[in-house]
Parts: sequence; C-alpha cells; structure tokens
Amino acid sequence: MSASAGLDAARGARTAAPGEVLVEVRGLEVHFPIKSGIIFDRTVGHVRAVDGVDLTIHRGETYGLVGESGCGKSTLGKAILNLEPPTAGSVIFDGVDIASLKGEDLRKERKRFQMVFQDPMSSLDPRQTVEALLLEGMRAHGLDTDKAATHARLRELMSAVGLPPAGLKKYPHEFSGGQRQRIGIARALSVGPDLIVADEPVSALDVSIQAQVINLLQDLQDELGLTYLVVAHDLAVVRHISDRIGVMYLGGLVEESEAGELYDVPLHPYTRALMSAVPVPDPTVEDSREQILLTGDLPSPANPPTGCRFHTRCPWRQETRCDTERPELRVVEVAGASSGHRVACHFAEQIAAGEIERHEVEAELVSEGFGGPDGPPTPPEAYIAP
Ligand SMILES: Nc1ncnc2c1ncn2[C@@H]1O[C@H](COP(=O)(O)OP(=O)(O)O)[C@@H](O)[C@H]1O
Ligand code: SF4
Ligand SMILES: [Mg+2]
Repeated sequence: MSASAGLDAARGARTAAPGEVLVEVRGLEVHFPIKSGIIFDRTVGHVRAVDGVDLTIHRGETYGLVGESGCGKSTLGKAILNLEPPTAGSVIFDGVDIASLKGEDLRKERKRFQMVFQDPMSSLDPRQTVEALLLEGMRAHGLDTDKAATHARLRELMSAVGLPPAGLKKYPHEFSGGQRQRIGIARALSVGPDLIVADEPVSALDVSIQAQVINLLQDLQDELGLTYLVVAHDLAVVRHISDRIGVMYLGGLVEESEAGELYDVPLHPYTRALMSAVPVPDPTVEDSREQILLTGDLPSPANPPTGCRFHTRCPWRQETRCDTERPELRVVEVAGASSGHRVACHFAEQIAAGEIERHEVEAELVSEGFGGPDGPPTPPEAYIAP
C-alpha cells in the first residue's frame, strides 16, 4: 500500500473525468486602494494587481502561472482561494462561486482548497510543534474526532511527504528548508483538499532540493488526484511540473497553452522575450536562436499603459490598435498552435508568419504616479535606460 493510500481514503478521492472543470475564473479583478493623507484617509488611486483574468483549471491537472515579479501572480492565486477578496469577477469552484462565500460557508469550503507558500519559515508558527501545526487545520474542520485515527493520519501525512514520524514532536527551526517545505505541504494535505495553490513553492530552496520537492508534489498528485495551480517566476520550474501554462503580464494573462507547446511555439511577444532569455545547453542552437531583449521595467500596475499593456516594451508594436485597444485572450490560427492555445495580441498571426518586422523599442519615461490631478505627490522619476 502506498504511503498516502490512507490519506486518499480520508479525503474520499474522486477519479477525474477527462477535462472535468474544477475551477472557472471569470473577469477576476483585485484592485488595492492607494491611500494618502494623514488626517483624512483619501483613496487616490488603485493598484490593479489582477485586472481581468479568465482561466479554467481542470480536475487533476497542474496549471502553471509565470510572469515577472509584481505582475500579480500571488494576488491571483490568493483571490482564487478567496484569501484576497476580489474587486470584481467570479471564481466558480466545483460549481460554487467562492468569491461570494462568507463566514461559515467560506470556512467550510476552505478545506477543499489550500495554499502552500514560498517561505515555509514565515508560514509556519515557530512556537508550535509539527504535530500541533498539522492538527490545527484538522481540528478547525472537525477531522480529529477519533484519537487513534488522528494519530495514524498524522503519521501518514509525515510519511506521504517523506519525513520520519519522530519529526512530529519537533519545531520548524529544527528542519532544513526543504524539509520545512515538506511540512508546509503536509499541512495543506492534512485537511484533504482538492486544489492546492502553490506560490513559488521551491523559489526559496537550494537548486539541488528544488527537484525533490517538485517530484514530491507530482507523486502526491498522482496518488491523490490533486489539482494544482503552481505559481513561479522560473520558467524551468513550471515547465517541469505543468500540464498547461498561463503567462501573466501586468495583471492579465497574455498567453495560455499546453506546457510543451508554449515552449515550442510561443506566440505573444512577451512570451517570446521570456523564452529567449532562457539559456539553451546546445551552443549551436544558442547562437542561432532568436534573442529578444526587453527594454525597460514592468510599468506600474497603479498606472498601467493604455491599450495593450505590453505596448511600451513590445518590439512588434504597431501604429494602429496597440496603444488604444486592449487585446482579448483569444484562440489564434497559427501553424503548430493547437485549439487551446490563446494569445492576447492583435497581431499574433502576422508576427508568427513573419509579416511584421521586429524593431527597436525606444526608452520611455515610466510614470510612477497614479495619474490625474488627484494623484499623490510622488514625482515621476524612473527613466529607463535604453
Ligand atoms: N496588499 C496589497 N496592497 C497593495 N498592493 C499590493 C498588495 N499585494 C500586492 N500588491 C501589489 O500588487 C502587485 C502584484 O503583486 P503580486 O501579486 O505579489 O505579484 P507577483 O506575485 O507576481 O510578484 C504589485 O504591484 C504589488 O506591489
Ligand atoms: S498587441 Fe501590439 S503591443 Fe501588444 S503584444 Fe501585440 S503587437 Fe505588441
Ligand atoms: Mg508572488
């Protein structure tokens, strides 16, 4: 019997019907108010951390979310779990709109979706033993009624994540970084979730340990039929683990496809730039392939560019549409792209066909201000080097 067979039984594991939708995100927005003033707390603008995201996650799959730091990945992950209340839009989880759930209803539903954080040290209370940490969630959801069964389950959880049962009596600081992340995973598993959102689950770990934790996540998925949303800024990590990948830029998805295809046929200019920055081991390929250097920093999500959010950095930007019309994430007809491949670029087809030339991107002044006469007194100051 596998180490986690008991866990499987405990969560009443279901077999996924092919393509069964578990999470459906529609028009999701999370805007954080920017406050100013000492006496009167005035809202002077909003950080549009997540600004109109549609995505679907199927039961049993791993959806990878990539993008530069600050593009809204963590906020999107939290909003899907209702840890960050959405400003607009809906998150339908197994038929229930969790964005609208509150109080006891939300608390009950929570055991079905859990989060694994980047830094296990800051997400695990250092004063609690591992046993207490694992019991916390089980208690909250009434899963510790029978003493013997709870004892067995704690040992099973440890075994499932590859830790000895003796570790139950220890404190988080007595473990290495990789082991602490295993405890973080055991804690998420303790309540028997269907969906786990793992936010940069291996970014804080040594490279040598990263693969072990990724493999553990995959093994647990195979055994327990878990569904994952894995957030990472590292393309190698998401490629390894994901079935499908979404690329995020300034609060929105710019491309989404089956994992291998995204690497073979990247269609959005931003994805192409990301891919071109990943070194290839073969020197001949490395020398001959497309290199796209992105000029400038990510613009501020408090004052995102009009039209296509990427137009200030896009080497294929056109005079028409790019600056004025926000492109929808749409299925494109391009050789090598399958029907699930979606791109938010007005000119994806022409770029893929080589009908539009790449050009230099001029350095732009990026306004850090929040726009309009009511903006806070922060002068725009960041000039971007060409
Ligand atoms: N609680 C918050 N209040 C205000 N702004 C926030 C908050 N959380 C995140 N942000 C801002 O939202 C944007 C997206 O952040 P985040 O989701 O953490 O991005 P990522 O995970 O991709 O690095 C950033 O500009 C960040 O500063
Ligand atoms: S819509 Fe225009 S600016 Fe945006 S990615 Fe496509 S070509 Fe570039
Ligand atoms: Mg983050």
